[in-house]
Parts: sequence; C-alpha cells; structure tokens
Amino acid sequence: MCGIIGYVGADGALPIVATGLKNLEYRGYDSAGIALNNGTVDVFKQSGEIDDLTLPAEHSATCGIGHTRWSTHGQPTDANAHPHTDESGDVAVVHNGIIDNYESLKSELSSHTFTSETDTEVIPHLVEEHLSDGDDLLSAVEATIERLEGSFAIAVTTSGQDGFVVARQDSPLVLGHGEDGNFVASDVTAFLEHTREVSYLEDGDVALVTGADVTVYHDGGTVDRPVQTVDWEADAAEKGGYDHYMLKEIHEQPQALRQTLSGRLDTVTGDVDLELDLPEQYLNSLEEIQVVACGTSNHAGQYAARLLEQFADVRTTVEVASEYEFRGGRDPWRTLVVAVTQSGETADTLSAMRRAASAGARTLAVTNVVGSTAAREADDVVYIRAGPEIGVAATKTFAAQVATLTMLTVYVGRQRGALSGDRASTLLENLRRLPGAIQQVLDEEDATREVAYDLIDSDGFFFVGRHLGWPVAMEGALKLKEISYINAEGFAAGELKHGTLALVTEDTPVLAVLTDGAKPDQTLNNVKEVESRGAPVIGVSSLDDTTKYLDVEFAVPDLGTLEPLVANVFLQLFAYHVADALGRSIDKPRNLAKSVTVE
Ligand code: M6R
Repeated sequence: MCGIIGYVGADGALPIVATGLKNLEYRGYDSAGIALNNGTVDVFKQSGEIDDLTLPAEHSATCGIGHTRWSTHGQPTDANAHPHTDESGDVAVVHNGIIDNYESLKSELSSHTFTSETDTEVIPHLVEEHLSDGDDLLSAVEATIERLEGSFAIAVTTSGQDGFVVARQDSPLVLGHGEDGNFVASDVTAFLEHTREVSYLEDGDVALVTGADVTVYHDGGTVDRPVQTVDWEADAAEKGGYDHYMLKEIHEQPQALRQTLSGRLDTVTGDVDLELDLPEQYLNSLEEIQVVACGTSNHAGQYAARLLEQFADVRTTVEVASEYEFRGGRDPWRTLVVAVTQSGETADTLSAMRRAASAGARTLAVTNVVGSTAAREADDVVYIRAGPEIGVAATKTFAAQVATLTMLTVYVGRQRGALSGDRASTLLENLRRLPGAIQQVLDEEDATREVAYDLIDSDGFFFVGRHLGWPVAMEGALKLKEISYINAEGFAAGELKHGTLALVTEDTPVLAVLTDGAKPDQTLNNVKEVESRGAPVIGVSSLDDTTKYLDVEFAVPDLGTLEPLVANVFLQLFAYHVADALGRSIDKPRNLAKSVTVE
C-alpha cells in the first residue's frame, strides 16, 4: 500500500504536495518523491522518510504529483522511489498497486533503458511510446492501461501538459474539487485541509485533471462521478472514517489479500509463482521445515504447519522463536527454517533465524516489510504484501501470512511431487475466493458487535478449535487479551476436558471455531461439555445443524482449509467490539509495542 497525491491549480504545488505526502505517511514510509511540472518536469525522490526528502526551498510549478512508498517490488532505494520517468525524464508517474505482467512488458520494451527494479517503471516507458506516436497524454494513458494486468492507481504528468491524467483499477483513488485547483489522492486525508468536496473514481475510470476542470472517462465516454462533502476530521479520515486503525485494518482484509495473491496463482494448473527459487533437489531431500515466529505470526505458522504436513508431505514443527535455541538445529542440512514475521524486526525471531543459519540450515523469511532485517538476512524471502499495519494488534497481516503460507505449501508440495495439480487447484481456487468470503463476514459486523456488547462483563473467555481451528482459537484469545485486557485462553477443542473444564462457568463464555470438517462430531461433544456447565457458547461455524448446541451461531461460508481463517475475522471483530465497549486504548494497548526489538 503506497500513497499518491496530485495537485494542479493557482497555488504553488510544492508545499501542497509535500504536506499531502506527510498526511499519507501512514500508507507507507520507506521512500518518497515529488514531480513538479511548470512546463518541464523536475523530479525529487529518495529512500527514507518524507521528512528526509531533499526538496528545493521554492519552485514555480503549480502542478505536481507525489508518492510515499511501501515497497513490493525492489528494495527501498533512491532508484526505486517514485515518481518514475521515461528515459527523457519528460513523463513522470506515481503508482499504488502491483503490475503483475511487468516482466513481459519490460522485455517488450527492450530498447528502453530501465533504472529501477520496480514494476511501475514500465508505465512511463509505455506512455512515452504512445506520446511519440502522436497521442495526447489522455490517449497515451488510456492505451497504456489497456496493457496493464494487476492493480493500479496512477497519476501521470508530462512536460508541456496542463495538469495530469489519473487512472484506477483495484486501488483507491479520490478526486478533490477545490476553489483554486483540483486534487487526486489515495485517500482524502492528503488534501482535506484544502477541500472537502470529493468524488470517488471507479475501476476502469481515467480522468484528466487540470486547474480549471476534472473530466472523468470510462469505456471511451465521459461519466459523472457524484461530488460528496466529507465531514470527517483529519484524524478520522486517516483511519478511513473508522474509529481505530485496527477496525480499518480488519476491514481492509479483502483488499489486502487481493494484493497478497495478485499475479501469484494459476488456478488451472495448480501452480504458484512466489518468485522463489528453492532447488528441486534440495526440496526433495528436505526432512523437516521448522517455523520460528512469535505471537500472531506463530499462530500463522501453526496453521501453515498443518497444511505443509497434509499437502506437502513434510514434517513441520513450529517453535516459539525465543525457545528455538533450546530445541532447534536438528539435522540442519535437511531443514528449511521459515521465519514468519510481519515486521521482519522481531529480535526473538531474528535470533532464532541467525542461530539456524549458523548451524547450516537454509532460511526463508515470510515478512511484510521489504528491506527489513529478516528479509535482508534470510537466504530467501517471500513478501505477504499486506500494506502497512498501524494497529499494534495484528489483523490483516495474519490473514496475509496464512494466505502466503498456503501458497508456499502449494509450491513445496508441487516441487516435491506430493501434491497433484487437481488438489493444488482446489487450494488455489479457495484462496481466490477468500477475499469475497471475508467480505461476507465483515458484512455481519452489527450482529458481532451485539454479541460482544452482551458479554463484556464476563470473568474470562475460552476459545476452542480443532486442527486448523486450533491456531485460530489461540489467535482469537490473543486478540481479545491484548486489546480488552480480559483473560482469554485458546485450546484444542479436545483438551479442555483434561483440566481447564474446571474453570468453565456461566461467566466464562466459550467461542468455538467449528470449521473445516475435522472430526466435527467430537468437536460438538466438546461444545456440549461446556454448554452443560452453563457457559454461553458462541459458534463460528461452517458445519450443518450446529445451531441447537449453540447460544449464538455465526455462519462461515464453505472454503475448505481456509474456513478457520474466515472464522478468525469474526473473532477479530468480537475482540475489537469488546475492547471498544470497555473504552480500551485499542490501537496502542498498554505495555505493548508493534515491533518487539529486544529479546
Ligand atoms: O512483527 P512480528 O510478526 O515478528 O511480531 C510478532 C509478534 O510480536 C506479533 O505478532 C504480536 O503478537 C501481535 N502484534 C499481536 O497482535
């Protein structure tokens, strides 16, 4: 997730675009840049935070576009920072999204010189080709986006152009209509201090934005996109109108997952493209995968371990990273150590990864942050592409981790000959349907809130699940604990009766993850055991006929091994609304940090 902004009008563009970028900083902050157009295009860009961007004290341009980056292709370097230009430097482009087919476009443009590792750079080169064929900028951008596969929100300007052209496909873009000029941005936060009159572009829209006018085109004709007045304050706008980043990030999951999966699945052949090149011989001789991770990332690892054993036929253990040194390191030559870490900076996880590497194991980082320590130090890396997560409680990154690790399972299973194309296709088809299934759960938020409000006076909570539902039960309990400060524990459904059942009363509700068909009869027996002790039971279920055992049931759509991941979204919303009703500091819970950089 990156942030883009553009302004054209009567005022100097430099301070407006620079401030707009600062307002978008929460969308990405590993590099930044601005292109100013006063008849000729000047580009200023570099890696690092927006405050560190070297800009001229003054500039006469009244048109500019800017970008703050969250890397997906290429390290956060000066060369990879946006805006990107063609060879002449006349065409400047800022982009949010991922161009899936950039490699094939790049080879088509073999006569052009590329200076970055980004997917974006193909865009100015394509635009330049069309401009040199005599097209105007609008037609050149229209012709260019016809060639692009993937997601994009772009703004393009060129020397001699009044204003810029913008286009959107699967990435947000909003127009701002001011008195002295017009704006475009990834969200309204960027320009809220200048105008509250906005219109939202839709997929397939292209717009020509000048100081005097905004014209939106779709399928070759002009269209009206209604102008609305935003009444949010800046703080709320940054959170997309939600009260907390955590809630915004829960709701971002369908979009984040589309980005995670973009260009990586072939549901027909059952293959995945993770830009990963583990030698086939190495994978075939692999005896064990060891996942090292902490907290939520550890739960994602536990989910993945069950998939890897089932579909890739490889023994997989999951260690709490801080405990790895006491257990890991067996037979390192035939062990792949997978470090799962959102931030890529968690000290315990880095320490486990380093220990594995020094023992001779190959290491693979699964992380959200391009250029993080884990990404740099591991032998191989796969990015989960969830975009920045601000809330301390991990939500969308858990979903993106499990989705990425499911793809890794398919990759390893296919390479080892353990997974047929048909079974792989089913897993991938479920991944493809995952964003839509999660949206169905998000649409049930009102009902989840009601149940949460009814239970805020409880003494404590238990979460239970079997097989893939167990890691999700643990994750549900962790989420509730960390933001509501109410005690909660997650258990394997069959384990409660071995002691903890003694604590179950009418004041300790039980949330049961009833999904993926793993011994449903036994799991329902476990539910009956707690129900008969008087505990309210809330089921998150894809099973038939469970209602009679439950006080409340939330239905999870059929999605095979991904059902528990969908169920987890109910648990996230539940935790959020309990904590919200209790007035907790949801985005910054007491005693916790987003990234724990000490052992
Ligand atoms: O950045 P990491 O994924 O390595 O962080 C690991 C844990 O600190 C983290 O998952 C933590 O448990 C979550 N913030 C909890 O919501």
